[in-house]
Amino acid sequence: MQFTPEQKQLGKDNFNEAVGYSRRDWLKGAAAAGTGLGAFYFGYEKLKGERVRVGFIGSGDEGSVLLTQHPPEYMEIVAVADIRPTNLERAKHGDGNDDRVGLIKKLGEKTALTKINYYSDYKELLARKDIEAVVIATPLISHHTLAIEAMKAGKHVLCEKLMAKTVTDCKSMIKAAKDTGKLLAVGHQRHYSVLYDNAYSIIKMGLLGDIKHIRAQWHRNNSFPGRDSWNKKVDPKDFAALKDKNTYLKEFGFDDVEHLVNWRVYNATGGGLMAELGSHQLDASSIFLGKVKPIACSGYGGKNFYGVKGIGSKDKQEDKREIDDHVYVTFEFPGPHYEEDQNDVAVVTYSSLSTNRLEPYGEQVMGSRGTLVVQTEQQAMLFKEASPETGAGGVEQRLYVINGNDSGPVLSASASLAPTASAAAAGATVEKISRGYTEEMEHFCHCIRNNINAPPKDGGLRCNGTVAMADAIMALTSNLAMKHKKRIAFKPEWFDPENPAAPETDKEVVG
Ligand SMILES: NC(=O)c1ccc[n+]([C@@H]2O[C@H](COP(=O)([O-])OP(=O)(O)OC[C@H]3O[C@@H](n4cnc5c(N)ncnc54)[C@H](O)[C@@H]3O)[C@@H](O)[C@H]2O)c1
Repeated sequence: MQFTPEQKQLGKDNFNEAVGYSRRDWLKGAAAAGTGLGAFYFGYEKLKGERVRVGFIGSGDEGSVLLTQHPPEYMEIVAVADIRPTNLERAKHGDGNDDRVGLIKKLGEKTALTKINYYSDYKELLARKDIEAVVIATPLISHHTLAIEAMKAGKHVLCEKLMAKTVTDCKSMIKAAKDTGKLLAVGHQRHYSVLYDNAYSIIKMGLLGDIKHIRAQWHRNNSFPGRDSWNKKVDPKDFAALKDKNTYLKEFGFDDVEHLVNWRVYNATGGGLMAELGSHQLDASSIFLGKVKPIACSGYGGKNFYGVKGIGSKDKQEDKREIDDHVYVTFEFPGPHYEEDQNDVAVVTYSSLSTNRLEPYGEQVMGSRGTLVVQTEQQAMLFKEASPETGAGGVEQRLYVINGNDSGPVLSASASLAPTASAAAAGATVEKISRGYTEEMEHFCHCIRNNINAPPKDGGLRCNGTVAMADAIMALTSNLAMKHKKRIAFKPEWFDPENPAAPETDKEVVG
């Protein structure tokens, strides 16, 4: 849905008002704590003792973001490994993008060039005894191999999402963490986003009423010639360095250098739009629904743009991708009373397009009393359903929170309410929004230094292997639903790390 600037501002003020109400004591504490906001929200402290000595494997698009956002007070980067020389250079120099400034700008030339070692072979990095933990930001197909090898070499692991290419691989990563006693974190950063945490706080308070639908999307437009960031030309420097290394590349599932560079568009190395993009929105949706496990999913996916031959630009005609370029999936989730009555279902619909991006990525949570809209991990808006008596509500009114009779807090509308002090405080928490990467790395280091290997509710990693596996199960099962054109009911044993059952080997799914 598109909003005018005024409606947007109202929606943001409403959100801050509600967060100010739901978290008024908390926000006072946050102001007094004098620690980083993320630390306060997610229950960790500034690191005491030595910083954690970390190596990064993979410094491509996402690795560069993580290097740029890493918290130097918690983490000492001692090495970076990447098989592409251009991306090793990018780790140092960035690429001119604010999100990816590079280590020289972030840490200064002396530290970046003399204290950090750069390797083309990750095995040299893993062999270093002084490295305690690794951050892995490599293509999906390699997560499983690299994470397990790293844990066996005695390193804690923070691996980028999607956790792995199969659920079976996710389970063996969790087992390796258990066997080695190492921490395994997965980079679904919304678990460390103050914006999402605040959004969930107002959902938990019941301000949206009964939630029956979440509409989520990630729409991009790659249809303009040469504009597809998932389909790049191979840089001659990478080609020269890797052209004779096909045996090494094949070990990781890449046929050649082009396959390594454009790993996302091939079935053997990527997981398609659901793994790359949809997993974020399904993660967010399941956070909003209280992290319940889904009941079933179905969907349609097609190569509806790139697969249509004979029409369009030369690069479209020459495109070699295997993955779908448009997906539309539906997930059924249990509502709070589902156990007693199976009509209590909330439905998440998700689409990812490659030919239209009018709507930015995000989620719209629709309840019987209000709607929450989160856009691009950067802003959240709150609107009230119009009251049947007065008509008050919709997208034109400022809201405040009042105590309803016996049903707890409710939204009330007002034409000209000035923001309350707590709304202003809540606004300040999301003014300079962090997407959660820094907090995710801070908490990872906090758990390492303080030896915390506990479930999230006891202060452990918020996105550990088991949590991340549930996200992988949703994304990968929806791929199977689209491929086999069926509605697939999720089985509890798939979510059990100790049980070998997995959707990709389930006869009822793939048989
Ligand atoms: N959390 C997020 O929001 C987010 C956003 C983008 C990407 N990601 C994830 O990050 C991961 C990486 O994505 P990307 O966009 O950076 O891809 P990319 O292709 O830009 O970078 C991957 C890098 O890994 C390197 N690499 C591959 N195999 C290697 C090996 N064996 N040893 C050393 N280096 C190796 C490649 O050379 C490349 O530089 C993916 O899993 C992706 O899903 C997460």
